Amino acid sequence: VQVVHITAEMAPHAKVGGLGDVVTGLAKACLARGHNVEIMLPYYECLPNDAIEDLRHERDFECPKGKTWDGLFQAGSLRTQAEAYLYFSRACLEYLRQSGRQPDVLHVHEWQASAVPMLFWDAPARFAQDMPRTRVVMTIHNFDSSGECRQDEFSATGVSGELFSTIDKALDERTIGHNPERLCLLKGGIVYSNAVTTVSPNYANETLNGGAAGWLKSTLAAPGVAVKYSGVLNGIDTTFWDPQIDPFLPACYGPQQQEGKALCKRFLQMGLGMTVDPDKPLVAVISRLVPQKGIHLIEHAVHRTIEMGGQFVVLGTGHADSGLRNLAGGHFRDNPDVQMRFMYSEALAHQIYAAADMLLVPSMFEPCGLTQMIALRYGTVPVVRSTGGLADTVKDVDNYQASRAACQGNDMQPNGYVFDGIDAGSLNSALDRAIAAYKGKPEEWAALRGRIMADASRWSWDVAAGSYVDLYNKVLSI
Ligand code: ADP
Ligand code: GLC
Repeated sequence: VQVVHITAEMAPHAKVGGLGDVVTGLAKACLARGHNVEIMLPYYECLPNDAIEDLRHERDFECPKGKTWDGLFQAGSLRTQAEAYLYFSRACLEYLRQSGRQPDVLHVHEWQASAVPMLFWDAPARFAQDMPRTRVVMTIHNFDSSGECRQDEFSATGVSGELFSTIDKALDERTIGHNPERLCLLKGGIVYSNAVTTVSPNYANETLNGGAAGWLKSTLAAPGVAVKYSGVLNGIDTTFWDPQIDPFLPACYGPQQQEGKALCKRFLQMGLGMTVDPDKPLVAVISRLVPQKGIHLIEHAVHRTIEMGGQFVVLGTGHADSGLRNLAGGHFRDNPDVQMRFMYSEALAHQIYAAADMLLVPSMFEPCGLTQMIALRYGTVPVVRSTGGLADTVKDVDNYQASRAACQGNDMQPNGYVFDGIDAGSLNSALDRAIAAYKGKPEEWAALRGRIMADASRWSWDVAAGSYVDLYNKVLSI
């Protein structure tokens, strides 16, 4: 299959969160299976040119600029994010057409690329006529941002927004936003794509039967949409995330030889200025610091872990970091066992995954979540809230019969600690058990650590890539 991804992120060069990891991981796994994969992403000013091998100008092509084009660029950049991505969507389609290309599948991600299926199937630009074999697959990584834009912004695609915003029977309100004066790009993408996926089966279920998709729930339930919608669990890049060969680590280790993990812990404790003690339970958070990630529970967990004699490390960036900054600079200022780094660092992330005993992911909602899978790969026991993909990937060691671990079936061994509620008491119900087990039953803990590392190949992208290839073949047969 010939696939062209259209996306706002690609790891490692343009990555904010998991979207970048997913695009790269899925692309590599499909390439390894012999498929032909390309990725189109905006030429961001911040891209590290010298880090990109073989960067070259491929071709010039025409791209209509729309009637509001004058003034769209300000100080060399596009005026708003929406307009920038709308123009990018049109440019991707124009590039392909003007190069005489006809890929089998355009795989678009998030609202940023949602105008692609809209323009492909329903605009006067006739892309579908010029690429009759091509089908469009869309993956939604998070329903939290739905990309609502004004009609005049939409014309950054070179197509008038009016075309998509007339409320009449023919158009079936297909792209009208929550705010009826606006277009909802994510909704347009859902309606116009040949298949739509989200990033875990449990999150798919939460969007259809719970509140996870917000008002877009009714779009997902519409005839013609539910049948083409499914959840495919993300994988992780098990080569990039491998404690046996990880170049960021001071010592490597694996399920058979775990000694290196203790060295990694010692190295991190020394490096961050913590008490150097192999027996203190070290709890870590590696996360964007935004409300989705359960910031109030992270704050609570810092207190609780210290009360129980543990150590706490946070690596993260995001606009909701003020409470944690206050804790680090105030209450815990003189406590070396609380360390927070408000920065983005790939190297430090690897070192923390390896050093920690537990990784906490107390998200309010989590479409998939990659950090708990990476933690498992590093023998770091996940402590998670039972939501979205977290519930699909972590099975509680004590309450495993009640655990949903939906998509993994019965062969998945218990591998972590799970709680349900959004209050401090619920979090304690899992964190306390984990810390008590770590301290009280070191042999069982070591066995759990070995088992989750040995089982980590189940998170490899190869499994998920197989599901995507099946889906590509299915839409190609339509
Ligand atoms: P989301 O996409 O919602 O942020 P995921 O769990 O899917 O959550 O993906 C997060 C990815 O970003 C993981 O690869 C994680 O290691 C990485 N990450 C998050 N914050 C940082 C940070 N401050 N430094 C380095 N890597 C980070
Ligand atoms: C989003 C979600 C996260 C998911 C990632 C990759 O950022 O918040 O749960 O793992 O996309 O699909």
